[in-house]
Parts: sequence; structure tokens; C-alpha cells
Amino acid sequence: MDFLTIEVIDKAADFIQHQIAIEPRVGMILGSGLGTLADSVEGSVRIEAQDVPGWPKSTIEGHAGRLIIGHLAGQPVFVMQGRSHYYEGYSMAQIGLPVRVMQRLGVEILVVTNAAGAVNPNFEPGDLMLITDHINLLGMAGLTPLRGPNLSEFGPRFPDMGRPYDRKLMDLARDAVKEAGVELREGVYICLAGPSFESPADLRFLKAIGVDAVGMSTVPEVIVARHGETRVLGISGISNKANLDGSTITTHEEVLEAGRVIAPKILELIKGMLRRL
Ligand code: HPA
Repeated sequence: MDFLTIEVIDKAADFIQHQIAIEPRVGMILGSGLGTLADSVEGSVRIEAQDVPGWPKSTIEGHAGRLIIGHLAGQPVFVMQGRSHYYEGYSMAQIGLPVRVMQRLGVEILVVTNAAGAVNPNFEPGDLMLITDHINLLGMAGLTPLRGPNLSEFGPRFPDMGRPYDRKLMDLARDAVKEAGVELREGVYICLAGPSFESPADLRFLKAIGVDAVGMSTVPEVIVARHGETRVLGISGISNKANLDGSTITTHEEVLEAGRVIAPKILELIKGMLRRL
């Protein structure tokens, strides 16, 4: 599937709409090892992602592939427990489908989370990073979910990207962590295609161009969200330090292990932000 059409989006949205009784206001995408957040959603309807027509299925450990629709901190939420990535073989268009469906279901705010490697030497595994901006390196190289006929029902051909991450939501997140006593880093996220982790020279390049954290997701979803004027809050859970000199080894197990420390902190941040909406 190279391009999404309204028909494809609505087939998936209708399938979900028939099973839920609420209109979700906040969408959430839970990254590697962060799926336990979904356990806090109350009164939830659970849908297996593989049953939704056209939905990209997650093929990797740490991504359950479940949709959970219910309430969190008083807000109607649509939670994706796990996501799909470009390296799994999906097109950029398919990776954008879940966000399009959320927009069709009425979602106004998208909270994107991910596991990321720290390029900024001041960041440590277990830290949370508020994503204040991103570098769309894949998009610069031509891999964008907006390629193809513009879906003008959602937004314009040439969407502005001056404020990918919503300033008001960032302020609410800063307030929420202060209350919860959790420290929050801030910085620029970059999405690479993966699945190989970066070489030391890759990482020195990323550091030079102003990257604080690196991962394999999020940016395509944010671009689809902003095309449709969905407001976005982005949080990275720092799972490992970048291996700038080749002295350590990065593994997916390390990423999942860090998720166990990070998930409760992200939950407090998100709940605090939702309470302040
Ligand atoms: N690089 C890319 N993606 C990642 C990393 C990393 O070091 N850690 C978690 N996701």
C-alpha cells in the first residue's frame, strides 16, 4: 500500500467505531517496553490490531499490537499498545494509518512515546525526554507518509511544520512532572529507519547536527498528525546511551529492560497532563 485513501481509512475507522461507545479525545502510541501504561485505562474495550482491516501489525517483542479504548485520568483515550515500524516492511503510508483512523474517530491530541538512545551525553538510561522538535531525516531522503495524492479532507498539500510539538501541551507536561517529582529532560529526536543500531560514526554525525535522542519511530506519525492539525505531545524514554566510541553494545533486551523503569514515570507524566487539559 503506497498511498492511503479515504476508503481504506474509513474501513478501519468504521470497524473500530462499531465496537466503542465513546468518542476518544486523546490518542496514545506506546513505544517499546512501554505497553504496561495501557493497564491503567479504565472501562476499556480491547481490540486486537490484527483484526482491524488494513492495520499494520506489530511483529516485534515489546509491542503487543492491541488497541485499548477507555478512560485515563478522566479523559476518553484511544491507546495503541505497540506500533509498527518502517523496518518491519510496512510502507510509510501504512505507518500513518493508525493516526488517520484516530483523526477520523475524533482524536484532537496525540501523545507519542518511544524508546530512544541518548546522543546527548548528559542523558542517562531511565531518563524521560520531552521532544521539543525533531529532525525528519527520512523525510528529507524521500520517505514520508504524505507522499501521494493529498487527502484534503485532513489537511493541505504543504502542511506547516513550524510547531510539530504543541507548546501548551509541553507546558502541561512540565507542570505534571514537577508535581510527580520526576525529572524531565528536553531535546531533539531523530527517527532513523533501523533496524540496525547506529555506528559510532553515525552517532557522531547525529551529535553534530543537533540530535539529543535517536530512535526508529514517531516522526512519521507526528507528520500525519500535524497534517490533520492534531496537537502532539512527544516523550522519549531513554533506554541506552549512544555508543559514540564503539566501547559498548546496544541490544533490544536493554531497551525493554529500561522500559520497566521508564513506564511508571511516563504514566505519571501523562496522567498529570491529562488532568490539566
Ligand atoms: N538507537 C536507535 N533506536 C533506539 C535506540 C538507539 O540507541 N535505543 C532505543 N531505540
